[in-house]
Amino acid sequence: MKSLTIRRPDDWHLHLRDGEMLQGVVGHSARDFGRAIIMPNLVPPVVSVKDAVSYRERIMAALPKDANFNPLMTLYLTENTNPADVAAGHASGDITAVKLYPAGATTNSQSGVSNIEKVYPVLEKMAQIGLPLCVHGEVTDSQIDIFDREAVFIDTVLEPLRKRIPELRIVMEHVTTQQGVDYVRSNEMGLGATITTHHLIINRNAILAGGIRPHYYCLPVAKREGHRLALRQAATSGDPRFFLGTDSAPHVDPLKETACGCAGIFTAINTMSLLAHVFEEEDALDKLEAFASLNGPAFYGLEPNDEKISLTMQDKPVNYPEKIETGAGPVTVFDPMFDVYWAVG
Ligand code: NCD
Ligand code: ZN
Repeated sequence: MKSLTIRRPDDWHLHLRDGEMLQGVVGHSARDFGRAIIMPNLVPPVVSVKDAVSYRERIMAALPKDANFNPLMTLYLTENTNPADVAAGHASGDITAVKLYPAGATTNSQSGVSNIEKVYPVLEKMAQIGLPLCVHGEVTDSQIDIFDREAVFIDTVLEPLRKRIPELRIVMEHVTTQQGVDYVRSNEMGLGATITTHHLIINRNAILAGGIRPHYYCLPVAKREGHRLALRQAATSGDPRFFLGTDSAPHVDPLKETACGCAGIFTAINTMSLLAHVFEEEDALDKLEAFASLNGPAFYGLEPNDEKISLTMQDKPVNYPEKIETGAGPVTVFDPMFDVYWAVG
């Protein structure tokens, strides 16, 4: 029987939502993951330390009783974010990162940043105190093709930002392109990147070939096959600059299966099984622990989790539900379109 024991993993990019949806999904992340960076794109967004503290309390209250899960909170950067509030949240340990959404880039990003110049005082303060910035790395200019938005963001926003504040620690969230991977590799340790589970598995054909499949639509949108292969190479290389951020982003089915469907893929339930499958395919099972459990904490200056989890190869495919029921409605689980034999536990 094949099995693998690794330090308990963490999820460095997770959407838990609020209310009934939070209640319905949080246990799935808490089962496998020790910690997660919690995205602040609620409606209204988590903009102050006070908001983050109360959101964290709601998450803790929604957890199953026996859970051992530490949500690491983030603030949603706006052009009105106060550098002193950010510094106080960092000092008190209430926030672990700040998230930059270019205004209009993705789900609930209306309050994001339109003019990066306006947030330089906050970013300078963050560089000073060592608080990381998580970046949704896509431009929003309607002139730019959606498949090019990450690459253009690197050239027109990220590189100038790195030049201006080189000490700022930045995580390029959910990189989806060869250019993203190359850019991270061309920098020293101050720049890291998260990679999602689904971007290691699907390319854009999953969304568009043979019919339009909304449950494979997320942002940044999956790219060509060559990009998927570049992401696999980066994730399985052991390079400490790349780590897991599932970007598990639940939306109820009626909001996905409609004329203008929401972006987001729900992978919290089956991520660890899928990653074991992917890493085995790449002959890199020995690198899974680095990607899922070690590189992320190292980037954030935290210790890895003490506990361990085991992944075991079963004879029969693992049965994940096609959808889960939440108080907010049904949520479809990411279907990798192949059988998975790796089970957690
Ligand atoms: C995320 C969401 O639904 O909040 N959607 C997604 O497609 N990943 C937002 C995001 O991270 O871009
Ligand atoms: Zn996200």
